[in-house]
This record gives sequence, C-alpha cells and structure tokens, in this order.
Amino acid sequence: MSRATKCADPVALDLWHPVGAVVELAPGTVNETHLLEEPVSYGVSNDGGVHAWRSVPHVRPGTAFSPADIAEPLPATSRFGYLWTSLGSPEAEFFELPEFHEPDRHNVWAGSIGVHTSAPRAVENFLDMGHFPYVHSGYLGIEPHTEVKEYDVEVVDGGREVVATECEFFQPLGALNADGGMLMGYVYRVPHPYCAILYKSSPIDESRMDAIAIFCQPVNEVTTRAHMLLSMLDDENDDRLLKRFQLLIFAQDKPILENQQPKRLPLGPTVETPVRSDKTSITYRRWLADMGLTYCVIPADS
Ligand SMILES: [Fe+2]
Repeated sequence: MSRATKCADPVALDLWHPVGAVVELAPGTVNETHLLEEPVSYGVSNDGGVHAWRSVPHVRPGTAFSPADIAEPLPATSRFGYLWTSLGSPEAEFFELPEFHEPDRHNVWAGSIGVHTSAPRAVENFLDMGHFPYVHSGYLGIEPHTEVKEYDVEVVDGGREVVATECEFFQPLGALNADGGMLMGYVYRVPHPYCAILYKSSPIDESRMDAIAIFCQPVNEVTTRAHMLLSMLDDENDDRLLKRFQLLIFAQDKPILENQQPKRLPLGPTVETPVRSDKTSITYRRWLADMGLTYCVIPADS
C-alpha cells in the first residue's frame, strides 16, 4: 500500500540515504531519525541484520525490537559502515568505494553532525578548494597560497558520477601525519546527489590516496545530518585523533554553511561570476538538474 509522503520528488524518494553508523547501534534496539521529513526507525537486530521501517508512534527509541515486529519495513543495507534506507524503490546497485575494503586502511566513523542547510549545500562546500586558506587557515590552506590551479571535471560512468581530477592545493597541515606543508593532490567524486568523496595525497605512500567521504542525510530540505567516513593510510595516529581532526575541520565549515542563503541549492543561472574553483560546483548543479532532482534544490524553472 502506498502512502502520501511529504517529499514528492521521485528522484529523492528512490535514493538510498544514510541514517546512522552501524558501529553505534546497540543490537536489538530501536533508533529513530527523520528522513525526507518522515520519521524513520532503524536498527541492527540481534542476529546482525540491518533494518529500517516507518516509525510507529508508540515504539520509542531505546526500546527492543525484533524483525518479526516490523509492520512497514523499508529497504535497508549496510555500506561503508553506515545503515542506508530509502522511502521509495532504490536501485540494487550501489556506488563503489573500493578503498573501504582495503585491509591496511583505518576506516573511521568520524561523526554524524546536524547542520542547518540543505544536503547539496554541504556537498558543494565539500567540493570547494577555494575556501581552504580562509575557513581552514593553518590546516587545509594558508594565505598567500590562495590560487586554485586549473583542473579537470567531467561527468563519467554514463552520467552516474561527477569526477574532478588533477586538483592541487598547498596545505600547511593537510593531514595529521603530514610533516609540514605540502602540495596536496586531490580527486573529488560525487557518486550520489547528496554524497561526495575526496581523495587526497597520502603523506606516507605517494602512490595511494586517503579517502574522506561525506554522506548527507536530508532530514528535510534545509536540515542535514552529515555522516563522515575516513578511510586512511595512517600508521601513527589512532582513530580517535583522526576523528578529532575531521571534527575540527567540520566545525570550521558549519557556521559558514549555516549562513549561506538560500539554503536550498539554486540550479538556475545565478548572478555569481564563475571562477575556476566553481567549475566543479557548476558541473554538480547541472548534473543535479539533468537528473531532475527537485528536493533540497531550487529548480532552474521555479
Ligand atoms: Fe571546509
């Protein structure tokens, strides 16, 4: 039986969305969140399976559940340390993140943070190198090294993903295990309208890259839970320090994000003059428009 949902965008309804880190879930216990304005419950059952369902008013978070009790199950899967669900009919195929499965990496759940902006605003900020010397001064950038050098961006894989390559930026402390400043190489991937992955030079192995992902959960059109994953080649620092560094960086972004207006991402032509560092965001916005996404954005024709 279908039922009315507050989100009317079939593109957003049919996506997989992250709702929580599996490692945080006590087995057999109900957790609750909001997804696309709908109350959604989720959890890991005592046999280790992941489950999501439409919330039932009298079943409170923290109480016990078993899969047999679930009246209105939703699709559920575990990917990259997170539980993902959908309010529609998601594709069986999921984007790839091969680094997550490499045995010598630290995969760190780096936090799930509420931020008062739309998911695409959070993704677009994540893709922008131009803000490093100003917002993350002393960490990811520093003046006068403010130039964003020429790089490539394209839509690949039959339109499934935006990829930016050949990105370089000078960073005074690009990673916890970096020894002083270095010219960092970057690759950005956007394999999902509300998710992005950045790859950056590994200070300990120049042939490989660290991966940092942001998986955004659209709570509603202007409220997001940003779930972060680090997949790092780091032989010095424990997970707690890696997580603390990432939270520090995100804490610098959060007030900037929350002050951006409008909170939904405009997909039509804007009065802003495109500069080189905007090339990825222009491609990202066009890609969202081409797929017909209307939730969390201001469509070009509105
Ligand atoms: Fe940032």
